[in-house]
Amino acid sequence: MQHVAVSNGMLNVYAQGKGSPLLFVHGFPLNNAMWHLQAEPFSKKYRVIVPDLRGFGESSVTPGTVTMEEMADDLHGVLHGVWVDKPVVFCGLSMGGYVAWQFFRKYRPQLRALILCDTRANADTPEAAAGRHKFADTVLANGSQAAADAMLPKLMSPKTMERWPDLVANVQSMMLRNKPAGIAAAALGMAARPDCTDLLPQIDVPTLLICGQDDQVTPPAEMQKMAEAIPQAQFVQIPNAGHLSPLENPDAVNGAINRFLISLDSRAAS
Ligand code: MLT
Repeated sequence: MQHVAVSNGMLNVYAQGKGSPLLFVHGFPLNNAMWHLQAEPFSKKYRVIVPDLRGFGESSVTPGTVTMEEMADDLHGVLHGVWVDKPVVFCGLSMGGYVAWQFFRKYRPQLRALILCDTRANADTPEAAAGRHKFADTVLANGSQAAADAMLPKLMSPKTMERWPDLVANVQSMMLRNKPAGIAAAALGMAARPDCTDLLPQIDVPTLLICGQDDQVTPPAEMQKMAEAIPQAQFVQIPNAGHLSPLENPDAVNGAINRFLISLDSRAAS
């Protein structure tokens, strides 16, 4: 792990391997450990970069509101900090996908392709945004355990919850390691995020969309619709997985990512 200086803070970053850059961006309220089953195998062939976003893991916490745009700016700083000067494949899960839209908007020349896992393009409804404000207040008052209690039951499929208690405990401990102020700031940032549906037809990089078949947060039908709106997109549904598909069914997710990366490499070679 290394610490990379970004505007007003420091991000904790795992960077490993040589080759084309592949950036993995975690969901909420997790940290870079959620990608450990991807980081290790893909670092054999690619330069894998896996940051803790601002407010999470070992990265700096900025109290208040941290927007998805600010997180995209941080990632731009991280790429500079780890000497990546080629366009990256940006793989983001859920909140990581919300950050991906902002990265596309601001830093398009630095993007080679997108992998969007279990995410959505639309903004929060007013009710959902109000719920996030309430959630942020609760986490600030009662600590990270309140975030874990609220989020854990939604994130994994009922089958995963029953069959893989070690994975559930691992995800819970990722949540508990995050500081309440960091969780609250990202929740408020998500509440304030803009609608990005209009961006979808403008996405001019190859895009892979991945969704767990039992995802209750961003269901497959919603992601399939997004895929239809993006010009060069393909959609893959992952069996035996909910919202955390890369952790719940890593073989299927890694297979889909691998096939996508090979297709990008062969496109580049031809
Ligand atoms: C995530 O996994 O990042 C969250 O479920 C995103 C959200 O709460 O909208």
